[in-house]
Amino acid sequence: MGRYEVKKVCCIGAGYVGGPTMIVFANKCPDIQFKVVDLNESRIEAWNNKDLTKLPIYEPGLDNLLKKCRNKNLFFLTDIKSSIEEADMIFISVNTPTKRKGIGAGKASDLKWIEASARQIAEYAKGHTIVVEKSTLPVRTAETIKKILESSYKKHSEEYSSKTFSVLSNPEFLSEGNAINDLENPDRVLIGGESKNAIDSLENLYTNWINKEKIIRTNLWSSELSKLAANAFLAQRISSINSISAICEETGADIIQVSKAIGADTRIGAKFLNPSPGFGGSCFQKDILNLIYLCEFYKLDEVANYWQSVLNINNWQKFRISKLVVNKLFGNISEKKISILGFAFKANTNDTRNSPCIDICNELLEEGAKLSIYDPKVDYKQIHLDLNSNYKNEDKGSWEFCNSIKESAINSHAILILTEWDEFKKINWLKLSKIMQKPCWIFDTRFCSNKKDVLDAGFNYWSLGSQ
Ligand code: NAD
Ligand code: UGA
Repeated sequence: MGRYEVKKVCCIGAGYVGGPTMIVFANKCPDIQFKVVDLNESRIEAWNNKDLTKLPIYEPGLDNLLKKCRNKNLFFLTDIKSSIEEADMIFISVNTPTKRKGIGAGKASDLKWIEASARQIAEYAKGHTIVVEKSTLPVRTAETIKKILESSYKKHSEEYSSKTFSVLSNPEFLSEGNAINDLENPDRVLIGGESKNAIDSLENLYTNWINKEKIIRTNLWSSELSKLAANAFLAQRISSINSISAICEETGADIIQVSKAIGADTRIGAKFLNPSPGFGGSCFQKDILNLIYLCEFYKLDEVANYWQSVLNINNWQKFRISKLVVNKLFGNISEKKISILGFAFKANTNDTRNSPCIDICNELLEEGAKLSIYDPKVDYKQIHLDLNSNYKNEDKGSWEFCNSIKESAINSHAILILTEWDEFKKINWLKLSKIMQKPCWIFDTRFCSNKKDVLDAGFNYWSLGSQ
């Protein structure tokens, strides 16, 4: 038997991965029907919004691609049952956050949404279905999924005697803000599995736009582990360069020069060596914690400690920046207005999950600051959710939402740049200096400003990783 015919695809989870991934698939495979389903009705409604500025996620180029295929061969809906029933292939693209309570709390991934998806598939699927893990998962999750699916053979043995499954692991490597390019031109596509026919079927979808040489086939467990390891390696580079940024500030070395010098070695490579206020996003911390949990489970304590240190440096970097701001402002920021530029965890996304800005802002609020926060893509509601969830201390400072750099800067004692939005690279410092307090500081953690311009405008200046 050759590969399975795939005419109808379902994706469970219409989030940052499910949405963009299926939009690219649908554009590249016009003869296949894609249905993206989600429990979250308002998210599905937003994906179906005629006004493309109101899509649930911001991602450059996404709106144009969506326009081409939505309601043609791509559909967003909440009807999970019928979408599963008719699908030949189902991607599971649901959230896998760190567990908050119970066994493994604070480290293990919470697999309740994965299990629920597997149960829905077991219940509703018909005929042969290829089930693809798209979410990032602990090693050997495919085993759990297989067990749940296999239990349905017995339960429905009379009703659907021909119900069978193949399980594949196909982790996603897209990075937010660059998702479309990453999906259209990936460095590699990883497919782990046991069934050659199922792997061939998924590969056949990808080869509509990706060279076969870029497709790596592995066993299930290598595929699951490679995804965790890839994120851990990327995060480790950031913690490494951030640790060096602190040495630069003490010694007079310059982190930009050092980063360039290190990255020029082709064995190291220039990418992902940008110092920052710490890595954020929904995945690096979660996936390293998951890896640590795995190491501890197998009693590999030294390995667990090694990866824990990557997280420690990241937390330390955030904390040392907020401490530095307080120190530079005479050790007192109580009631002082501080302009915060950027709240997303990186530029070109509206995502704030685990953004370093949250921890840094919370530290400054603890000190009593009045923050005026501006981000071109993050709205008031999101900042409110992120900052007010643990906002119980009456003596804490306060924050306000701003609609522009100017509104945020007016009368403030300092500007702290936390996200590298292009808009922040074009600031006219001389103009801003006229509407701010004196003395006044610019703290740049993202290399958006030119030191000379800022100093010439009369500001005090601090930039990450230099003196
Ligand atoms: P997300 O929270 O944005 O989206 C997940 C969606 O799944 C939510 O809308 C949720 O309502 C839905 N969902 C949960 N259970 C469901 C169910 N039983 N039926 C239907 N819908 C259900 O998450 P995300 O950022 O898209 O991440 C998804 C997975 O992909 C995670 O495992 C993550 O680690 C991985 N990943 C994320 C990225 C990224 O850049 N965000 C990149 C690569 C991999
Ligand atoms: C990351 C990986 O890059 C993706 O390959 C992976 O698929 C994804 O996680 C995931 O599994 O979720 P993402 O988190 O979207 O993607 O964005 P990155 O570009 O990796 O940035 C993560 C964080 O690291 C950001 O806060 C960013 O500012 C920071 N970063 C990145 C640095 O501090 N320095 C760098 O040189 C690069």
